[in-house]
Amino acid sequence: MNIVLMGLPGAGKGTQADKIVEKYAIPHISTGDMFRAAIKDGTELGLQAKSFMDQGALVPDEVTIGIVRERLSQADCEKGFLLDGFPRTVPQAEALDGILESLGRAIEHTINIQVDKDELVARLSGRRICKSCGASYHLIFNPPAVEGKCDKDGGELYTRADDNPETVTNRLEVNMNQAQPLLDFYQAKGVLTNINGQQDINKVFADLDALLQSGRS
Ligand code: AP5
Repeated sequence: MNIVLMGLPGAGKGTQADKIVEKYAIPHISTGDMFRAAIKDGTELGLQAKSFMDQGALVPDEVTIGIVRERLSQADCEKGFLLDGFPRTVPQAEALDGILESLGRAIEHTINIQVDKDELVARLSGRRICKSCGASYHLIFNPPAVEGKCDKDGGELYTRADDNPETVTNRLEVNMNQAQPLLDFYQAKGVLTNINGQQDINKVFADLDALLQSGRS
């Protein structure tokens, strides 16, 4: 099962991706997570990505496409994969088609999670992440059982560097500018499915799961 999960910042891509990869046992490929891991490890890629991420800007296409090409070529993607947050621009979508063609694979589900802008701002400002396992919470919409601690492993919860109000405003603007042409690209191919992301987390997952099980694209 090869899945592309799209949506504006805060739409719930990471939250739903965690549930999908757990159920379908496929690798979760999040370009945002890959960049954050590179920043943490102090690699050249991390240094390159940090300046863009800190401003809420997109990392240049050639850098992002390169890491996805490398990741999709790894053996664990042969049984399927879930791309979270990639592609985000039309050149990335075109490059993805080329990468998959060279690997003899195709996308089965291209899904866009739709959420209104006001709700996105509320979600990003209340998000907290576990330092050790990366699980995502929300102070109001998805709180941990014990304040400041991860339900899964007791890890400390922190606020992501790009969830401060100025960066959130810029991230939303930058991503909204890119989103419509990208959606038009997939719409024109007749492969796009929109999912209502403004529902309870489990209801969104139920809709996604029904789609994945239906075999529809
Ligand atoms: P990335 O890490 O991908 O961030 P993003 O796209 O901004 O998306 P988020 O992770 O913020 O949101 P999400 O949709 O995963 O929502 P979540 O599930 O956490 O990218 C970060 C940066 O890396 C980019 O800004 C860019 O610089 C760079 N980058 C990454 N990919 C790139 C690419 N392809 N090209 C160029 N640059 C790239 O949910 C958010 C909150 O809402 C959580 O608190 C959650 O608990 C809550 N929530 C989730 N679902 C619901 C619900 N249904 N109801 C209520 N609350 C909910």
